[in-house]
Amino acid sequence: MIVPTTSYVDVGAADDVPLRGSRVVASPQGDIAIFKAADGVLFALRDSCPHKRGPLSQGIVHGHSVTCPLHNWVISLETGEAQGADHGCAGAFALRVQNGRILLDMSALTATAA
Ligand code: FES
Repeated sequence: MIVPTTSYVDVGAADDVPLRGSRVVASPQGDIAIFKAADGVLFALRDSCPHKRGPLSQGIVHGHSVTCPLHNWVISLETGEAQGADHGCAGAFALRVQNGRILLDMSALTATAA
């Protein structure tokens, strides 16, 4: 489990996150899914779908979105917002990559889970 001492927390190596895949890190705010899109851009969302808390980390990454494995809601990796006619937000975290390490900003959750 991550215990942040500053707002940015090292959550692992960027190379450990597979393209179009994810890995999950535990935090005091619950599990956080780190995604890597096909273009190599990394994103971080709560690992909890705003619909019925499906594990977004097990969804299908396409473009800068992930499709929830339970009922196929499409969630923006950039904002955590449900797309289309669906409403809700998983909550997104800012991150940066420094020296190949993913630094997650635990103070920058863009929205709370539905
Ligand atoms: S729990 Fe994600 S779409 Fe229903």
